[in-house]
Amino acid sequence: MVAFPTETVYGLGADALSPAAVRRVYELKGRPRINPLIVHVTGPEMAARVCEFDERAARLTRALWPGPVSLVLPKRDNLPELVTAGGRGVAVRCPSHPVALALLYAFDSPLVGPSANPSGMVSPTRAEHVRAVWNSDDVLVLDGGACLGGIESTVVSLEGQARILRPGLVCSTEIEQALGERVLPAEVRHHEGSAPLPAPGLLDRHYAPRTPALLVHAEEIVATSRLAAGVKRIVLLARSGEPLVRTEADVEVITMPQDAEGYAAALYEAMHLGDRCGAELMLIEHPPTDGELWGAVLDRLRRATTAR
Ligand code: TXA
Ligand code: MG
Repeated sequence: MVAFPTETVYGLGADALSPAAVRRVYELKGRPRINPLIVHVTGPEMAARVCEFDERAARLTRALWPGPVSLVLPKRDNLPELVTAGGRGVAVRCPSHPVALALLYAFDSPLVGPSANPSGMVSPTRAEHVRAVWNSDDVLVLDGGACLGGIESTVVSLEGQARILRPGLVCSTEIEQALGERVLPAEVRHHEGSAPLPAPGLLDRHYAPRTPALLVHAEEIVATSRLAAGVKRIVLLARSGEPLVRTEADVEVITMPQDAEGYAAALYEAMHLGDRCGAELMLIEHPPTDGELWGAVLDRLRRATTAR
């Protein structure tokens, strides 16, 4: 198993064509078997080894690969069932990070690459985040420094009408321009208990720090801090940078970037930092809601703050 940097987050690489290797990825991550894996490739040619890479896929990827967009296409039979969690479509993506590409060229075959975190937890954006959770006997870590994008790729289904399954760094207008078709937006869904997922991978609670976290509007920060009876230490991911009114608890403030790109790039790192500062509660100041990248950020924040 090789953890590698990409332009979004660190991935956990393993041979996509080996059922044993893929099984090990699910085990190591503690990932539910209903949640399929993204197959990483050097480009359309390698993608065509595991899926039916048609003209629409070629159009889209000519404009957007290498880059943070994953395409769901009909899988070929040689790909182990486990990769797609039994489904007929496989997500393929060509990352733009030089280390990820070098690894794929050296291996010369597709690699599954889920984010290199235990299932449900915050994705790693630095090699240290990966090393903190797995030992070096299980996972070899290729250290490429900090990931620039900071949140995951956009997942778009091309099985039938184009549809965004997971919002991410690439927005729908870029996809529509490349494809020359309308793209259905990502839906906000809620998943009940153990029923099959409406679309795989959209688990309600995900990307979550260890510290219990709440998403709060700026004007609620003080009231919420006061309500958290018995909490001695709070970490606040702040946007406004306004001075806080005094509360009973110690408040450690992490000031987040104002712009969506900067915020996305800093988010997981801030959550990892927040987890390390020994707080009992993480408050995350609600970001703006305008624009698709803020939407992708909010998708992560909502899942990160969904109750266990
Ligand atoms: O940016 C990324 O995509 C990163 C880097 C490492 O490449 N990888 C990543 O993988 O985020 P993972 O496993 O953490 O998230 C994959 C997402 C999940 O929401 C999964 O359900 C969805 O993609 N997905 C994977 N295969 C799918 C499929 N065949 N159909 C529908 N959704 C799929
Ligand atoms: Mg993940």
